[in-house]
Amino acid sequence: MTMSVPVSLGERSYHIHIGGDLLKKSGELLAPHLSASAKARPIPIVTDETVFKLHYPAFAAGLAAANLTGDAIVLSPGEQTKSFAGLERLSGELLSRQVERGGLIVALGGGVIGDLTGFAAGILKRGIDFAQVPTTLLAQVDSSVGGKTAINTPQGKNLVGLFYQPKVVIADTTALATLPKRELLAGYAEVVKYGLLGDAEFFAWLEKNGVQCANGDTQALAHAVAHSCAMKAAIVARDERETGDRALLNLGHTFGHALETATGYSNALLHGEGVGLGCILAFKLSARLGLCSLEDVRRTRDHFAAVGMKTSIRELPGGKPATELLLTNMRHDKKAKDGQMVFILARGLGKAFITNDVPEAAVRELLDAE
Ligand code: NAD
Ligand code: GLY
Repeated sequence: MTMSVPVSLGERSYHIHIGGDLLKKSGELLAPHLSASAKARPIPIVTDETVFKLHYPAFAAGLAAANLTGDAIVLSPGEQTKSFAGLERLSGELLSRQVERGGLIVALGGGVIGDLTGFAAGILKRGIDFAQVPTTLLAQVDSSVGGKTAINTPQGKNLVGLFYQPKVVIADTTALATLPKRELLAGYAEVVKYGLLGDAEFFAWLEKNGVQCANGDTQALAHAVAHSCAMKAAIVARDERETGDRALLNLGHTFGHALETATGYSNALLHGEGVGLGCILAFKLSARLGLCSLEDVRRTRDHFAAVGMKTSIRELPGGKPATELLLTNMRHDKKAKDGQMVFILARGLGKAFITNDVPEAAVRELLDAE
């Protein structure tokens, strides 16, 4: 069964199609977004080497079934592709194919491919339509939805980019079967984040069905992806450019980014793993400040443990990072204003809010006690 979640943004509105085996229906789902002349030409499909090998054949068959053809642009997998060098290479590939303003560029892959392709689409010829076909759980529930596109620079992650919405998102939950378990779990942390930030009932559903999701059950995953996307779509619809509520999506990210910086953005800690640890710390901090109960902290921690994720910063390779280092990283977080840290805290499961009114001493005590 295919589910369709609308993202309501006036003339920039679009749908997220979610379900099993959707790559095989790529042509049918993309066709409404192609002009007659774009249908007659090969469609540029930006992907990475891993996804090309695993999923391009099904995707190309889906195009062929609708009398369409693809022209794959295959990039190296990994975060380093999301760079000025990667953008230069991709722009060259796209321009040499004479992409036109009336055309459509497809991003087939994880968040790296989606963020880079979306940015290139937004700036080439002052804007060419693009479609997101996310193949990681993280990309299906987060990065492909909402129009944030970016590349990294030596000064930091995602510092050069645009808000540029796709025309359609196609999330094939069957494609997640080939994802390494660690990547699946990292994406799952973002799913849990939605329950924790705004929907206690969804969190309770995850408590019952999370292990099935972590084991790759396509139906459970489709429900989790659809619900996560619906929550993100609602937040993006009311705050596309993150002037307010959209920052709620950063639950767990202040701590998470500090941990990622402390571990050098290395394989020691994937982004989603940092978010999972960060959500637990955000609930612990909320409990210390008298905002939520210890029972909420226990349920949060126990759920991450139940699906097989780390629950303590002591478990990081290299051990627990120094408190002072983490505090320094948090002061430099992108959300910080005038050196004042910004946190997403919670008044209970599903009741997150944004605040810059957190005494540093409380954060220090929490980290020292970890
Ligand atoms: P990724 O794109 O690097 O993918 C992770 C790995 O999985 C890669 O090696 C990739 O080749 C492989 N892969 C992809 N699909 C696969 C599949 N189906 N089977 C097997 N392997 C597969 O990483 P990601 O976690 O998807 O995304 C991370 C990026 O997303 C970061 O750059 C982050 O900044 C960005 N991001 C953006 C937003 C946003 O709103 N735009 C939100 C969150 C994260
Ligand atoms: N990933 C957070 C956002 O899209 O705002």
